[in-house]
Amino acid sequence: MKNDSDNKFFGTLPQKELLKLYAKHVNSPKVRFFKGVGLGVILGERAGVKINTLEGAKPTDPPMELYDCHTCGGVYNLGHGNQKIVQTLKDALNSGLDIGDHLQLSEWRAILGAKLAQLMPPGITKTTFGVSGGEAVDTAIKFSRAYTKRRKCISAVGGYHGHTGFALATGDVNFKEKFLWNFPDFKQVPFGDGDTLKNTISDDVACVILEAIPATGGVLIAQEGYFSEVRELCDDHGVMMIIDEVQTGLGRTGHFWAINGGLYEQEKVIPDFMVLGKGMSAGIYPLSTCSYKPFIEKEIFKDDPFIHISTTGGSELGCVVACKMLDIQSDLMFLSHVKEMGKLFGEGLEDIANGHPELIKEVRGRGLMWGVEFNNETLGQFAMLSIIKEGVLQNYCGNKKDTLIMMPPLIVKEEEIKEIIKRIREGVKNINHLV
Ligand SMILES: Cc1ncc(COP(=O)(O)O)c(C=O)c1O
Repeated sequence: MKNDSDNKFFGTLPQKELLKLYAKHVNSPKVRFFKGVGLGVILGERAGVKINTLEGAKPTDPPMELYDCHTCGGVYNLGHGNQKIVQTLKDALNSGLDIGDHLQLSEWRAILGAKLAQLMPPGITKTTFGVSGGEAVDTAIKFSRAYTKRRKCISAVGGYHGHTGFALATGDVNFKEKFLWNFPDFKQVPFGDGDTLKNTISDDVACVILEAIPATGGVLIAQEGYFSEVRELCDDHGVMMIIDEVQTGLGRTGHFWAINGGLYEQEKVIPDFMVLGKGMSAGIYPLSTCSYKPFIEKEIFKDDPFIHISTTGGSELGCVVACKMLDIQSDLMFLSHVKEMGKLFGEGLEDIANGHPELIKEVRGRGLMWGVEFNNETLGQFAMLSIIKEGVLQNYCGNKKDTLIMMPPLIVKEEEIKEIIKRIREGVKNINHLV
């Protein structure tokens, strides 16, 4: 058996062969798509804010070095291979810690639960663990239905909460129709529109679920007062308010929560449920959480504490990693760094937009989460490719393809922001050659 040090994890086979294997055994339409847009490459070594591809798109091209402004929606908030996180995981593994036993009580689930309770908006003190964001969303909807003894759920048009059961049901038709997943109990209303919500919500609705800033929906920023109005409407009708901070939480906006100061300094809303995923993994160990108020716990678990379980959800190794991540990202110096870098990044994007009114309609965002809306969907898609060619990985929003979403790692430095902006500027300038 080889030593760890002899193992090779990047470029184990030539890219061409890997693409063939991927097409044959994983997903051939996906390979065709990436080749079709000239990005038939596989990601290789990665560190900090950068990722390399194994080879260039063409045999003559060198490997690409990409600044990661996709970060899988905040999975890489701490960059790739953050040494503090890696060391924590290594130490935990070396000490003999493993996933743990989901039926037993757990030291690390207790510690992480307590840490989350300290950081959550006041009163949200209980946590149920999962593996993915979708699982945590499913849990919140499931618990809302059990608590209220109602079936209905209201979500936002263009919103995205995952591809699992209830999460899929909250989403747009394009993702669920194929799976015969259009349930009459699940209704969508336009995001940011309090009046339509008022006319849709009623005493037979279990929950309203919203992202604080819909990411897949186009990085939409609701007007000040919208979430307070949602809170009030939920209270009036005994409806659970679920906020999905899978992308916006953990410091992304320069505040620890978007819903609690990150959108508007003065507007601090307390939902009944707060859902987290992505960044909880620190890019290393998958973990998601559904946190909620104690009155909900009483109703769900009182007769059967095993009524909801997840074998690998809340693995103890994942909890250790998440605790370390929370310590780093809740630090006030860390959050003020995000604010500073976010300001620089936002100003850079605004400046690019001001120079190209023929291409860009609007730039909007908070902290280090920005949307650049182009004048139409074709431009948005061309812009994505053109900017990737300049070495900045980002993507268009799945439910609003005229808008690029940019989420650099939160540890990004000033020189890196400047370099990223320089490359985005070049990419935008080059779109005219592509159209
Ligand atoms: C806001 C939001 N919620 C939930 C999810 C689902 O997370 P997962 O893909 O881990 O199931 C996503 C995934 O992109 C998301 O963006």
